[in-house]
Amino acid sequence: MSFMPSFLISLAAVAVLFGIGYGGAAAGAGAVIGIYVPYAALLVFLGGLVWKVADWANSPVPFRIPTTSGQQKSLDWIRRDPIDSPFTKGEVVLRMALEVLFFRSLLKNTKTQLHHGKPAYATDLWLWLAAIIFHYSMLVVLLRHLRLFLAETPFFVTAIERADGFMQVGVPVFYATSIGILLGLLWLLSRRILNPLVRYISLPNDYFPLLLLLGIAGSGFCLRYIDKTDIVAVKELTVGLASFSPAADAIANINPLFFGHLFLVAILFAYFPFSKLMHLAGVFLSPTRNLANNSRAERHINPWNPKVKMHTYDEYEDDFRDLMKEVGLPVEKE
Ligand code: HEM
Repeated sequence: MSFMPSFLISLAAVAVLFGIGYGGAAAGAGAVIGIYVPYAALLVFLGGLVWKVADWANSPVPFRIPTTSGQQKSLDWIRRDPIDSPFTKGEVVLRMALEVLFFRSLLKNTKTQLHHGKPAYATDLWLWLAAIIFHYSMLVVLLRHLRLFLAETPFFVTAIERADGFMQVGVPVFYATSIGILLGLLWLLSRRILNPLVRYISLPNDYFPLLLLLGIAGSGFCLRYIDKTDIVAVKELTVGLASFSPAADAIANINPLFFGHLFLVAILFAYFPFSKLMHLAGVFLSPTRNLANNSRAERHINPWNPKVKMHTYDEYEDDFRDLMKEVGLPVEKE
């Protein structure tokens, strides 16, 4: 099975990392895992993010290269497509918003399959649905986590918790997104393994982020619903971390599972800027998406074209007038 090495390497990496967090805390290194590692990871994350974004922002994009799949603006009587071939900045913003909020290009994505021996194209609605469920669940989970870092829980976090806990089946309240994030990730992972075309092109860098996120969501799930921890002690530590005055005393009362969860999160943050997960920032900087298709109306000149030394016809004639006259060629100026 060709996918096995890539998959197993990634699985083993996540298992070892979780073991370092869990085992490290159990062996008394809770302060390292709970304080130093998260701060270091945050620094790598911020530094890497700024470096990457600055690098992309400084890459020259001299021409309009948007990917289009609709009629561009031309003659007034030809109906144009403002979203698939945006002409104004407003239309670009609309196109980007649909992309970022609803993954529009993924929704339009087709998959190729052999149907009675012939290639056929069909929508891949399940991929889109799994991606939406995973990303929105993760967003809600992260917003709910704000409760851990702020002494006073903001009103919108309480509102989100109330909506997310609509399936309340006891204590603690069961959140729909705790399961949504896991199901979304499991779907994306099984697609990668079960679809032979996707499996063929999958590398450790494809499996690792999925498994890492599964490790984080899985350990978080256990922490909340199965092997609970002293959440007051966690909050003491996390509020301390957020206010740069970490409360090392709280560490002894916290379940090592929390440190397994936190260590995987730290790894995710440090890995993020150097991985495909940077599509989070990249989607905004992608010139195939964020440019208006207005080359017919505006001339875009490549700013680093070398200066061309012009030699006009007048100058040419000045240089060769005598010779031209000698061989009988017509001249404009006598
Ligand atoms: C990418 C970042 C993270 C993800 C995806 C994530 C995911 C999750 C998930 C899915 C749960 C299950 C319960 C729920 O849905 O709320 C959870 C619980 C938990 N997470 Fe995270 N987490 C992340 C970061 C963190 C960080 C940075 C901390 C603390 C420093 C943390 C501490 C906890 C704790 C204490 C719980 C148990 C909450 C409870 O008992 O109510 N998580 N996490």
